[in-house]
Amino acid sequence: MTRDSARAGRYHIETWGCQMNVLDSDKLAGTLESHGYRRAASASEADVILLNTCSIREKAAEKIFSELGRLKPLKKRTPELLLGVCGCVAQQEGERIFARAPHVDFVLGPRAGATLDEVLTRHRAGDRTVRGTLDVEYRSDSIDFPFEKIRRAAAGTGRAFVTIIEGCNHRCTYCVVPRTRGKEICREMGQIMEEVRSLAERGVLEVEFLGQTVNAYRDSNGRTLGDLLAETARLDGIERIRFTTSHPAQMTDALMDAMAAARPKVCPYLHLPVQSGSSAVLRAMRRGYDREAYLAKIEGLRRRIPGISFGTDIIVGFPGETEREFGETLSLLQEVEFDTVYSFAYSARPGTAAHGMDDPPLELKLERVNRLQALQNGIQARRNQGWVGRAVEVLVEGPSKKRPSRWSGRSADYRIVNFSGRATPGRISAVRITGASAFSLRGESVLS
Ligand code: SAH
Ligand code: SF4
Ligand code: F3S
Repeated sequence: MTRDSARAGRYHIETWGCQMNVLDSDKLAGTLESHGYRRAASASEADVILLNTCSIREKAAEKIFSELGRLKPLKKRTPELLLGVCGCVAQQEGERIFARAPHVDFVLGPRAGATLDEVLTRHRAGDRTVRGTLDVEYRSDSIDFPFEKIRRAAAGTGRAFVTIIEGCNHRCTYCVVPRTRGKEICREMGQIMEEVRSLAERGVLEVEFLGQTVNAYRDSNGRTLGDLLAETARLDGIERIRFTTSHPAQMTDALMDAMAAARPKVCPYLHLPVQSGSSAVLRAMRRGYDREAYLAKIEGLRRRIPGISFGTDIIVGFPGETEREFGETLSLLQEVEFDTVYSFAYSARPGTAAHGMDDPPLELKLERVNRLQALQNGIQARRNQGWVGRAVEVLVEGPSKKRPSRWSGRSADYRIVNFSGRATPGRISAVRITGASAFSLRGESVLS
Protein backbone atom coordinates (compact mmCIF):
# COMPACT_ATOMS: atom_id res chain seq x y z
CA MET A 1 0.00 0.00 0.00
CA THR A 2 2.83 2.44 0.69
CA ARG A 3 5.95 3.42 -1.11
CA ASP A 4 7.72 3.46 2.21
CA SER A 5 6.36 0.86 4.59
CA ALA A 6 7.60 2.88 7.59
CA ARG A 7 4.85 5.44 7.08
CA ALA A 8 1.16 5.54 6.30
CA GLY A 9 0.18 6.00 2.66
CA ARG A 10 -0.44 9.55 1.54
CA TYR A 11 -3.12 11.04 -0.68
CA HIS A 12 -3.48 14.20 -2.66
CA ILE A 13 -6.77 15.50 -4.09
CA GLU A 14 -7.10 18.32 -6.60
CA THR A 15 -10.53 19.88 -6.84
CA TRP A 16 -12.17 21.94 -9.57
CA GLY A 17 -15.74 23.17 -9.93
CA CYS A 18 -18.58 24.03 -7.59
CA GLN A 19 -19.17 23.70 -3.84
CA MET A 20 -20.63 20.25 -4.43
CA ASN A 21 -17.29 19.11 -5.77
CA VAL A 22 -15.49 20.64 -2.80
CA LEU A 23 -17.70 18.62 -0.48
CA ASP A 24 -17.33 15.49 -2.63
CA SER A 25 -13.55 15.82 -2.27
CA ASP A 26 -13.99 15.90 1.52
CA LYS A 27 -15.97 12.66 1.18
CA LEU A 28 -13.27 11.07 -0.98
CA ALA A 29 -10.68 12.21 1.59
CA GLY A 30 -12.78 10.54 4.32
CA THR A 31 -12.83 7.27 2.41
CA LEU A 32 -9.04 7.42 1.93
CA GLU A 33 -8.51 8.14 5.63
CA SER A 34 -10.73 5.21 6.59
CA HIS A 35 -8.19 3.07 4.70
CA GLY A 36 -5.31 4.55 6.71
CA TYR A 37 -4.13 7.15 4.21
CA ARG A 38 -3.07 10.62 5.36
CA ARG A 39 -3.01 13.91 3.47
CA ALA A 40 0.25 14.44 1.52
CA ALA A 41 2.04 17.78 1.51
CA SER A 42 2.14 17.71 -2.29
CA ALA A 43 1.28 15.51 -5.28
CA SER A 44 4.87 14.29 -5.58
CA GLU A 45 4.69 12.75 -2.09
CA ALA A 46 1.38 10.99 -2.65
CA ASP A 47 0.60 7.29 -3.09
CA VAL A 48 -2.91 8.08 -4.33
CA ILE A 49 -3.77 11.12 -6.44
CA LEU A 50 -7.37 11.99 -7.25
CA LEU A 51 -8.47 14.70 -9.65
CA ASN A 52 -12.01 15.75 -8.79
CA THR A 53 -13.08 17.41 -11.99
CA CYS A 54 -15.59 19.87 -13.49
CA SER A 55 -16.91 19.89 -17.03
CA ILE A 56 -19.24 22.89 -16.91
CA ARG A 57 -17.26 24.77 -19.59
CA GLU A 58 -14.82 23.45 -22.14
CA LYS A 59 -11.88 25.22 -20.50
CA ALA A 60 -12.58 23.55 -17.16
CA ALA A 61 -12.66 20.12 -18.79
CA GLU A 62 -9.49 20.71 -20.81
CA LYS A 63 -7.58 21.75 -17.68
CA ILE A 64 -7.93 18.18 -16.43
CA PHE A 65 -6.15 16.76 -19.43
CA SER A 66 -3.26 19.21 -19.09
CA GLU A 67 -3.02 18.31 -15.39
CA LEU A 68 -2.97 14.61 -16.33
CA GLY A 69 -0.14 15.43 -18.76
CA ARG A 70 1.81 17.10 -15.96
CA LEU A 71 1.35 14.06 -13.73
CA LYS A 72 2.59 11.62 -16.36
CA PRO A 73 6.34 11.75 -15.46
CA LEU A 74 5.48 11.23 -11.77
CA LYS A 75 3.38 8.17 -12.59
CA LYS A 76 6.20 6.85 -14.77
CA ARG A 77 8.75 7.23 -11.95
CA THR A 78 6.45 5.57 -9.43
CA PRO A 79 4.20 3.08 -11.23
CA GLU A 80 2.64 1.92 -7.93
CA LEU A 81 1.09 5.39 -7.57
CA LEU A 82 -2.71 5.17 -7.94
CA LEU A 83 -4.13 7.89 -10.18
CA GLY A 84 -7.91 8.37 -10.33
CA VAL A 85 -10.17 10.79 -12.18
CA CYS A 86 -13.42 11.55 -10.33
CA GLY A 87 -16.26 14.04 -10.75
CA CYS A 88 -18.07 15.48 -13.74
CA VAL A 89 -15.39 15.00 -16.43
CA ALA A 90 -15.17 11.37 -15.31
CA GLN A 91 -18.91 11.02 -15.88
CA GLN A 92 -18.91 12.91 -19.15
CA GLU A 93 -15.85 11.30 -20.76
CA GLY A 94 -15.87 7.83 -19.13
CA GLU A 95 -13.83 5.32 -21.11
CA ARG A 96 -12.37 8.07 -23.32
CA ILE A 97 -10.20 9.20 -20.39
CA PHE A 98 -8.22 5.95 -20.52
CA ALA A 99 -7.79 6.41 -24.28
CA ARG A 100 -6.50 9.99 -23.91
CA ALA A 101 -4.51 9.37 -20.73
CA PRO A 102 -3.56 5.68 -20.44
CA HIS A 103 -1.67 6.32 -17.18
CA VAL A 104 -4.99 6.88 -15.36
CA ASP A 105 -5.85 3.91 -13.12
CA PHE A 106 -9.55 4.46 -12.49
CA VAL A 107 -12.46 6.72 -13.41
CA LEU A 108 -15.38 7.36 -11.01
CA GLY A 109 -18.38 9.60 -11.71
CA PRO A 110 -19.75 11.96 -9.04
CA ARG A 111 -22.42 9.45 -7.96
CA ALA A 112 -19.95 6.55 -7.86
CA GLY A 113 -17.57 7.86 -5.17
CA ALA A 114 -18.39 4.87 -2.95
CA THR A 115 -16.53 2.63 -5.40
CA LEU A 116 -13.29 4.22 -4.20
CA ASP A 117 -13.71 2.13 -1.05
CA GLU A 118 -13.68 -1.07 -3.08
CA VAL A 119 -10.81 0.14 -5.30
CA LEU A 120 -8.65 0.75 -2.20
CA THR A 121 -9.50 -2.61 -0.65
CA ARG A 122 -8.62 -4.44 -3.84
CA HIS A 123 -5.45 -2.39 -4.32
CA ARG A 124 -4.26 -3.26 -0.82
CA ALA A 125 -4.86 -6.95 -1.52
CA GLY A 126 -2.52 -6.63 -4.50
CA ASP A 127 -5.32 -6.94 -7.07
CA ARG A 128 -3.88 -5.56 -10.29
CA THR A 129 -7.24 -5.43 -12.04
CA VAL A 130 -7.95 -2.22 -10.14
CA ARG A 131 -6.37 -0.58 -13.18
CA GLY A 132 -9.06 0.25 -15.67
CA THR A 133 -11.93 0.45 -13.13
CA LEU A 134 -14.71 2.59 -14.60
CA ASP A 135 -17.85 3.43 -12.61
CA VAL A 136 -20.26 6.00 -13.95
CA GLU A 137 -23.46 4.63 -12.40
CA TYR A 138 -25.97 7.13 -11.03
CA ARG A 139 -26.17 5.54 -7.56
CA SER A 140 -29.21 6.50 -5.53
CA ASP A 141 -27.29 5.88 -2.29
CA SER A 142 -24.63 8.49 -3.15
CA ILE A 143 -26.71 10.94 -1.08
CA ASP A 144 -26.33 8.74 2.02
CA PHE A 145 -22.56 9.03 2.43
CA PRO A 146 -21.96 8.59 6.21
CA PHE A 147 -21.25 12.12 7.39
CA GLU A 148 -18.99 10.97 10.26
CA LYS A 149 -16.49 9.89 7.61
CA ILE A 150 -16.22 13.30 5.88
CA ARG A 151 -12.74 14.89 6.28
CA ARG A 152 -13.36 18.59 5.86
CA ALA A 153 -10.49 20.58 4.37
CA ALA A 154 -12.16 23.72 5.75
CA ALA A 155 -12.26 22.44 9.35
CA GLY A 156 -11.49 25.30 11.72
CA THR A 157 -13.12 28.00 9.57
CA GLY A 158 -16.41 27.75 11.44
CA ARG A 159 -18.24 26.86 8.22
CA ALA A 160 -19.41 23.58 6.73
CA PHE A 161 -21.22 22.46 3.59
CA VAL A 162 -24.04 19.93 3.98
CA THR A 163 -25.49 18.00 1.02
CA ILE A 164 -29.28 17.94 0.90
CA ILE A 165 -30.06 17.18 -2.76
CA GLU A 166 -27.98 15.82 -5.62
CA GLY A 167 -28.56 15.95 -9.38
CA CYS A 168 -30.81 18.14 -11.48
CA ASN A 169 -34.18 17.58 -13.16
CA HIS A 170 -34.03 20.72 -15.30
CA ARG A 171 -32.91 20.67 -18.89
CA CYS A 172 -31.26 24.04 -19.48
CA THR A 173 -30.10 23.83 -23.07
CA TYR A 174 -26.45 24.78 -22.37
CA CYS A 175 -25.82 22.64 -19.28
CA VAL A 176 -24.03 19.32 -18.67
CA VAL A 177 -25.07 18.93 -15.02
CA PRO A 178 -28.23 16.82 -15.54
CA ARG A 179 -26.00 14.35 -17.35
CA THR A 180 -22.99 14.50 -15.06
CA ARG A 181 -24.95 14.35 -11.79
CA GLY A 182 -28.08 12.51 -12.88
CA LYS A 183 -31.66 12.95 -11.64
CA GLU A 184 -32.50 14.73 -8.42
CA ILE A 185 -32.32 12.71 -5.25
CA CYS A 186 -33.03 14.10 -1.79
CA ARG A 187 -31.54 13.19 1.55
CA GLU A 188 -33.86 12.45 4.45
CA MET A 189 -34.31 15.48 6.68
CA GLY A 190 -33.63 13.42 9.82
CA GLN A 191 -30.18 12.53 8.53
CA ILE A 192 -29.43 16.11 7.57
CA MET A 193 -30.38 17.33 11.04
CA GLU A 194 -28.20 14.67 12.64
CA GLU A 195 -25.24 15.99 10.66
CA VAL A 196 -26.02 19.62 11.45
CA ARG A 197 -26.28 18.80 15.16
CA SER A 198 -22.93 17.06 15.12
CA LEU A 199 -21.37 20.04 13.32
CA ALA A 200 -22.81 22.43 15.89
CA GLU A 201 -21.36 20.28 18.68
CA ARG A 202 -17.96 20.63 17.05
CA GLY A 203 -18.19 24.42 17.03
CA VAL A 204 -19.38 25.03 13.47
CA LEU A 205 -21.30 28.33 13.40
CA GLU A 206 -22.39 28.39 9.76
CA VAL A 207 -23.94 25.64 7.65
CA GLU A 208 -24.53 25.92 3.94
CA PHE A 209 -27.00 23.47 2.43
CA LEU A 210 -25.97 22.31 -1.02
CA GLY A 211 -27.60 21.14 -4.20
CA GLN A 212 -27.63 22.16 -7.87
CA THR A 213 -31.33 22.92 -7.34
CA VAL A 214 -31.29 23.26 -3.56
CA ASN A 215 -34.74 24.81 -3.35
CA ALA A 216 -36.29 21.77 -5.08
CA TYR A 217 -35.52 19.80 -1.90
CA ARG A 218 -38.37 17.56 -0.69
CA ASP A 219 -37.78 14.43 1.36
CA SER A 220 -39.89 11.25 1.40
CA ASN A 221 -42.14 12.79 4.08
CA GLY A 222 -42.76 15.92 2.02
CA ARG A 223 -40.49 18.11 4.12
CA THR A 224 -39.06 21.05 2.21
CA LEU A 225 -36.12 23.43 2.38
CA GLY A 226 -38.38 25.80 4.32
CA ASP A 227 -38.89 23.12 7.01
CA LEU A 228 -35.16 22.51 7.11
CA LEU A 229 -34.42 26.21 7.61
CA ALA A 230 -36.95 26.40 10.45
CA GLU A 231 -35.58 23.36 12.23
CA THR A 232 -31.93 24.38 11.81
CA ALA A 233 -32.65 27.88 13.09
CA ARG A 234 -33.84 26.32 16.36
CA LEU A 235 -30.46 24.69 17.01
CA ASP A 236 -28.20 26.28 19.58
CA GLY A 237 -24.74 26.94 18.23
CA ILE A 238 -25.71 27.46 14.59
CA GLU A 239 -25.58 31.20 13.98
CA ARG A 240 -25.71 31.38 10.19
CA ILE A 241 -27.65 29.37 7.61
CA ARG A 242 -27.10 29.57 3.86
CA PHE A 243 -28.15 27.44 0.91
CA THR A 244 -27.04 27.25 -2.70
CA THR A 245 -27.87 27.06 -5.62
CA SER A 246 -31.50 28.13 -5.86
CA HIS A 247 -33.41 27.94 -9.12
CA PRO A 248 -35.52 31.08 -9.67
CA ALA A 249 -38.52 29.10 -10.98
CA GLN A 250 -38.65 27.17 -7.69
CA MET A 251 -38.23 30.20 -5.43
CA THR A 252 -41.74 29.98 -4.02
CA ASP A 253 -43.58 32.41 -1.75
CA ALA A 254 -43.63 29.67 0.89
CA LEU A 255 -39.85 29.42 0.81
CA MET A 256 -39.46 33.20 0.96
CA ASP A 257 -41.75 33.25 3.99
CA ALA A 258 -39.72 30.46 5.61
CA MET A 259 -36.52 32.43 5.03
CA ALA A 260 -38.00 35.52 6.63
CA ALA A 261 -39.36 33.51 9.57
CA ALA A 262 -35.93 31.95 10.22
CA ARG A 263 -34.15 35.32 10.31
CA PRO A 264 -31.71 36.39 11.63
CA LYS A 265 -30.07 32.96 11.37
CA VAL A 266 -30.91 32.65 7.68
CA CYS A 267 -28.39 35.04 6.16
CA PRO A 268 -29.52 38.10 4.19
CA TYR A 269 -27.85 36.91 1.00
CA LEU A 270 -29.11 34.74 -1.83
CA HIS A 271 -27.35 33.38 -4.89
CA LEU A 272 -30.06 33.34 -7.56
CA PRO A 273 -28.62 32.68 -11.02
CA VAL A 274 -30.55 34.61 -13.67
CA GLN A 275 -28.35 33.72 -16.70
CA SER A 276 -29.80 36.47 -18.92
CA GLY A 277 -31.95 39.60 -18.67
CA SER A 278 -33.73 38.82 -21.94
CA SER A 279 -36.92 36.78 -21.86
CA ALA A 280 -36.26 35.52 -25.40
CA VAL A 281 -32.81 34.23 -24.42
CA LEU A 282 -34.21 32.70 -21.21
CA ARG A 283 -36.75 30.85 -23.32
CA ALA A 284 -34.01 29.55 -25.64
CA MET A 285 -32.08 28.46 -22.55
CA ARG A 286 -35.23 26.70 -21.30
CA ARG A 287 -34.93 28.33 -17.89
CA GLY A 288 -38.62 28.21 -17.05
CA TYR A 289 -39.04 31.92 -16.09
CA ASP A 290 -38.86 35.25 -17.85
CA ARG A 291 -37.33 38.59 -16.90
CA GLU A 292 -40.49 39.81 -15.15
CA ALA A 293 -40.91 36.63 -13.12
CA TYR A 294 -37.28 36.86 -11.99
CA LEU A 295 -37.66 40.50 -10.99
CA ALA A 296 -40.82 39.61 -9.07
CA LYS A 297 -38.84 37.06 -7.02
CA ILE A 298 -36.19 39.66 -6.19
CA GLU A 299 -38.90 42.08 -5.18
CA GLY A 300 -40.67 39.45 -3.05
CA LEU A 301 -37.44 38.72 -1.20
CA ARG A 302 -36.55 42.40 -0.70
CA ARG A 303 -40.00 43.03 0.73
CA ARG A 304 -39.69 40.19 3.22
CA ILE A 305 -36.00 40.63 4.08
CA PRO A 306 -35.06 44.33 3.84
CA GLY A 307 -31.41 44.81 2.95
CA ILE A 308 -30.98 41.30 1.54
CA SER A 309 -28.20 41.18 -1.02
CA PHE A 310 -28.05 39.03 -4.13
CA GLY A 311 -25.51 37.19 -6.22
CA THR A 312 -26.08 35.79 -9.68
CA ASP A 313 -24.58 33.94 -12.65
CA ILE A 314 -24.76 35.25 -16.22
CA ILE A 315 -24.02 33.46 -19.47
CA VAL A 316 -22.90 35.93 -22.10
CA GLY A 317 -23.15 35.17 -25.82
CA PHE A 318 -25.65 32.33 -25.78
CA PRO A 319 -26.29 31.25 -29.43
CA GLY A 320 -28.37 33.89 -31.16
CA GLU A 321 -28.01 36.53 -28.40
CA THR A 322 -28.39 39.91 -30.11
CA GLU A 323 -26.84 43.18 -29.00
CA ARG A 324 -30.29 44.32 -27.89
CA GLU A 325 -30.82 41.15 -25.82
CA PHE A 326 -27.40 41.56 -24.25
CA GLY A 327 -28.42 45.16 -23.45
CA GLU A 328 -31.37 43.71 -21.51
CA THR A 329 -28.93 41.79 -19.32
CA LEU A 330 -27.03 45.02 -18.62
CA SER A 331 -30.26 46.81 -17.73
CA LEU A 332 -31.23 43.94 -15.42
CA LEU A 333 -27.92 44.33 -13.57
CA GLN A 334 -28.67 48.03 -13.14
CA GLU A 335 -32.17 47.32 -11.96
CA VAL A 336 -31.36 44.61 -9.43
CA GLU A 337 -27.95 45.84 -8.22
CA PHE A 338 -26.40 42.48 -7.37
CA ASP A 339 -23.45 42.38 -4.98
CA THR A 340 -21.74 39.47 -6.75
CA VAL A 341 -21.95 38.46 -10.39
CA TYR A 342 -20.19 35.50 -11.95
CA SER A 343 -20.24 36.01 -15.71
CA PHE A 344 -19.21 33.37 -18.21
CA ALA A 345 -18.75 33.38 -21.95
CA TYR A 346 -21.07 30.72 -23.33
CA SER A 347 -19.26 27.44 -23.95
CA ALA A 348 -20.83 24.80 -26.21
CA ARG A 349 -20.87 21.47 -24.38
CA PRO A 350 -21.21 18.01 -25.88
CA GLY A 351 -24.53 16.29 -25.26
CA THR A 352 -26.48 19.50 -24.54
CA ALA A 353 -29.40 20.75 -26.63
CA ALA A 354 -27.62 23.98 -27.59
CA HIS A 355 -24.55 22.13 -28.84
CA GLY A 356 -24.30 22.66 -32.58
CA MET A 357 -26.34 25.89 -32.48
CA ASP A 358 -24.66 28.93 -33.93
CA ASP A 359 -21.99 29.74 -31.34
CA PRO A 360 -21.06 33.47 -31.43
CA PRO A 361 -17.39 34.27 -32.09
CA LEU A 362 -15.20 34.26 -28.98
CA GLU A 363 -14.13 37.91 -29.48
CA LEU A 364 -17.76 39.01 -29.39
CA LYS A 365 -18.42 37.01 -26.22
CA LEU A 366 -15.33 38.34 -24.48
CA GLU A 367 -16.10 41.90 -25.51
CA ARG A 368 -19.58 41.55 -23.96
CA VAL A 369 -18.19 39.92 -20.81
CA ASN A 370 -15.80 42.88 -20.41
CA ARG A 371 -18.59 45.43 -20.81
CA LEU A 372 -20.76 43.56 -18.34
CA GLN A 373 -17.97 43.33 -15.76
CA ALA A 374 -17.07 47.03 -16.11
CA LEU A 375 -20.68 47.97 -15.42
CA GLN A 376 -21.00 45.52 -12.52
CA ASN A 377 -17.70 46.56 -10.91
CA GLY A 378 -19.01 50.12 -10.74
CA ILE A 379 -22.24 48.95 -9.09
CA GLN A 380 -20.38 46.83 -6.54
CA ALA A 381 -17.83 49.54 -5.74
CA ARG A 382 -20.62 52.01 -5.05
CA ARG A 383 -22.63 49.55 -2.96
CA ASN A 384 -19.60 48.50 -0.93
CA GLN A 385 -18.65 52.14 -0.35
CA GLY A 386 -21.95 52.51 1.49
CA TRP A 387 -20.60 50.23 4.23
CA VAL A 388 -17.70 52.48 5.21
CA GLY A 389 -18.15 53.71 8.76
CA ARG A 390 -20.54 50.90 9.72
CA ALA A 391 -19.83 47.86 11.90
CA VAL A 392 -20.37 44.34 10.60
CA GLU A 393 -20.12 40.88 12.11
CA VAL A 394 -17.52 38.77 10.34
CA LEU A 395 -17.13 35.02 10.56
CA VAL A 396 -13.34 34.78 10.47
CA GLU A 397 -12.03 32.13 8.09
CA GLY A 398 -8.33 32.68 8.78
CA PRO A 399 -5.42 34.93 7.80
CA SER A 400 -5.91 36.81 4.53
CA LYS A 401 -4.12 35.03 1.68
CA LYS A 402 -2.80 38.26 0.21
CA ARG A 403 -1.70 39.86 3.48
CA PRO A 404 -1.31 37.23 6.21
CA SER A 405 -0.96 39.95 8.86
CA ARG A 406 -4.68 40.58 8.34
CA TRP A 407 -7.75 38.44 8.91
CA SER A 408 -10.27 37.50 6.27
CA GLY A 409 -13.88 36.41 6.56
CA ARG A 410 -17.41 37.12 5.42
CA SER A 411 -20.22 39.30 6.67
CA ALA A 412 -23.68 37.75 7.03
CA ASP A 413 -24.56 39.20 3.61
CA TYR A 414 -21.53 37.45 2.14
CA ARG A 415 -19.18 40.38 1.62
CA ILE A 416 -15.49 39.55 1.94
CA VAL A 417 -14.04 41.54 4.84
CA ASN A 418 -10.29 41.87 5.43
CA PHE A 419 -9.36 43.43 8.72
CA SER A 420 -6.65 43.97 11.28
CA GLY A 421 -6.75 43.52 15.03
CA ARG A 422 -7.55 40.63 17.31
CA ALA A 423 -9.61 37.69 16.02
CA THR A 424 -9.99 33.92 16.22
CA PRO A 425 -10.50 31.80 13.10
CA GLY A 426 -13.88 30.10 13.10
CA ARG A 427 -15.44 32.72 15.40
CA ILE A 428 -17.44 35.88 14.75
CA SER A 429 -15.73 39.27 15.18
CA ALA A 430 -17.22 42.75 15.14
CA VAL A 431 -15.40 44.83 12.54
CA ARG A 432 -15.58 48.58 11.87
CA ILE A 433 -15.42 49.15 8.09
CA THR A 434 -12.84 51.74 7.04
CA GLY A 435 -12.55 51.16 3.29
CA ALA A 436 -14.10 49.37 0.33
CA SER A 437 -13.39 48.16 -3.20
CA ALA A 438 -15.63 46.48 -5.76
CA PHE A 439 -14.80 43.06 -4.31
CA SER A 440 -14.21 43.48 -0.58
CA LEU A 441 -14.42 45.61 2.53
CA ARG A 442 -11.51 46.58 4.80
CA GLY A 443 -11.69 47.31 8.47
CA GLU A 444 -10.47 46.99 12.04
CA SER A 445 -11.79 44.70 14.70
CA VAL A 446 -13.83 46.39 17.38
CA LEU A 447 -12.57 45.17 20.71
CA SER A 448 -15.36 44.46 23.13
N1 SAH B 1 -27.71 24.88 -10.89
C1 SAH B 1 -27.28 26.20 -11.10
C2 SAH B 1 -26.03 26.36 -11.94
C3 SAH B 1 -24.98 25.37 -11.98
S1 SAH B 1 -23.66 25.62 -13.10
C4 SAH B 1 -28.40 26.97 -11.79
O1 SAH B 1 -29.35 26.43 -12.26
O2 SAH B 1 -28.27 28.17 -11.92
C5 SAH B 1 -22.96 27.16 -12.58
C6 SAH B 1 -23.03 28.23 -13.63
O3 SAH B 1 -22.23 27.92 -14.74
C7 SAH B 1 -24.41 28.44 -14.23
O4 SAH B 1 -25.23 29.21 -13.43
C8 SAH B 1 -24.10 29.10 -15.54
O5 SAH B 1 -24.07 30.50 -15.41
C9 SAH B 1 -22.70 28.59 -15.86
N2 SAH B 1 -22.75 27.65 -17.00
C10 SAH B 1 -23.35 26.45 -17.06
N3 SAH B 1 -23.20 25.91 -18.28
C11 SAH B 1 -22.49 26.79 -19.01
C12 SAH B 1 -22.02 26.81 -20.35
N4 SAH B 1 -22.28 25.81 -21.18
N5 SAH B 1 -21.32 27.89 -20.78
C13 SAH B 1 -21.07 28.92 -19.93
N6 SAH B 1 -21.48 28.95 -18.66
C14 SAH B 1 -22.18 27.90 -18.19
FE1 SF4 C 1 -27.72 23.15 -15.17
FE2 SF4 C 1 -30.07 24.28 -15.42
FE3 SF4 C 1 -29.78 22.19 -13.80
FE4 SF4 C 1 -28.71 24.52 -13.14
S1 SF4 C 1 -30.91 24.08 -13.34
S2 SF4 C 1 -27.73 22.53 -13.02
S3 SF4 C 1 -28.10 25.35 -15.09
S4 SF4 C 1 -29.60 22.20 -16.02
FE1 F3S D 1 -18.73 21.50 -12.48
FE2 F3S D 1 -19.97 19.28 -12.01
FE3 F3S D 1 -20.16 21.29 -10.31
S1 F3S D 1 -19.77 20.22 -13.97
S2 F3S D 1 -19.97 23.06 -11.62
S3 F3S D 1 -18.35 20.18 -10.77
S4 F3S D 1 -21.76 19.85 -10.86
